[in-house]
Amino acid sequence: MRLLLIGFGTVGQGLAELLIDKKSELKSLHGLDIKVVGISDMLKGSVYNADGIDLAKALEIAKSGGKLSEMDGAFDGDALSMINSAEADMMVEMTYTDIKTGEPATSHIKAALNKGMHVTTTNKGPVALFFHDLARLAKDKGVKFLYEGTVISGTPLLNLIRETLAGSEITQVKGILNGTTNYILSMMEEGMSYDDALKKAQELGYAEAVPDADVLGWDALAKVTIIANAVFGASCKPDSFPCKGITDITADMITEAKKRGYRYKLIGKVWRENGEVKGSVATEEIAMTHPLAGIMGATNAVTVTTDTLGDVTVVGPGAGRTETGYSTLIDIIHAGGKR
Ligand code: HSE
Repeated sequence: MRLLLIGFGTVGQGLAELLIDKKSELKSLHGLDIKVVGISDMLKGSVYNADGIDLAKALEIAKSGGKLSEMDGAFDGDALSMINSAEADMMVEMTYTDIKTGEPATSHIKAALNKGMHVTTTNKGPVALFFHDLARLAKDKGVKFLYEGTVISGTPLLNLIRETLAGSEITQVKGILNGTTNYILSMMEEGMSYDDALKKAQELGYAEAVPDADVLGWDALAKVTIIANAVFGASCKPDSFPCKGITDITADMITEAKKRGYRYKLIGKVWRENGEVKGSVATEEIAMTHPLAGIMGATNAVTVTTDTLGDVTVVGPGAGRTETGYSTLIDIIHAGGKR
């Protein structure tokens, strides 16, 4: 399977490391012989080599702040021109999320699908804004459009609902969908300042490129919209739902709530009401006795309410290098694996 990696930041490098570490299992367990033929990154430059790129070298260059164009097969062009000219089976879109326009990722995805490539993306913009168009295009072209990493990284949620809970009616999906804000609220409870906690979340690779997207709730809102459209079949845009982040929550409020036996959590929710799909993002005071109150740090937790099993809850990482890189590996295996 020939891959194009579009975006070689934290997530792209996380995937490259997994492809190196798991090379033999991918072959023996899934019949997948994976070759990365192209990498394009806005800051690090681009390389294309039909025989396969040396991923260890690409990682070394990325980590040392060098340019991929130092490698054999330097590619002189942007991501779109690489997608349009490359011979590949799957494109992995891992550029930064722009939730207002969904670009440039949406153009990358459309170009790859039009060329008959499978696509996986961790980019929330295209999936929140244009899910149905992209899914239809993939269907018309007979390829897969997968997006597991857009909601709580590699922790299974979208695949869990689509595959494992097939046949269940989903009536509500609710939980902690943003790692950065949960980390900040947790650290503030331990006495760290808001600014220091945000800085640390950025250093750890949890926060979005522009962290306003986390703290104002937009990242969780994008995930709520993805869930509304992909799970509930709605045709919503992010501005269909009310959204409020954590910036009004002070250390004093956290301490005072704790004394009363509560914790502030940023909660994203999608549910069906009188046949209509509703959604919201807001902080809620959660009683310490509730399972979501115990979710601390960058961990995410989502409860899926079904008509067959009642509540099913998944808890796991929702951001990070390996964690999000892994979400694309799941999709790569689903698209091309033989088992
Ligand atoms: N910034 C996001 C978070 C990354 O903190 O959850 C994953 O979408």
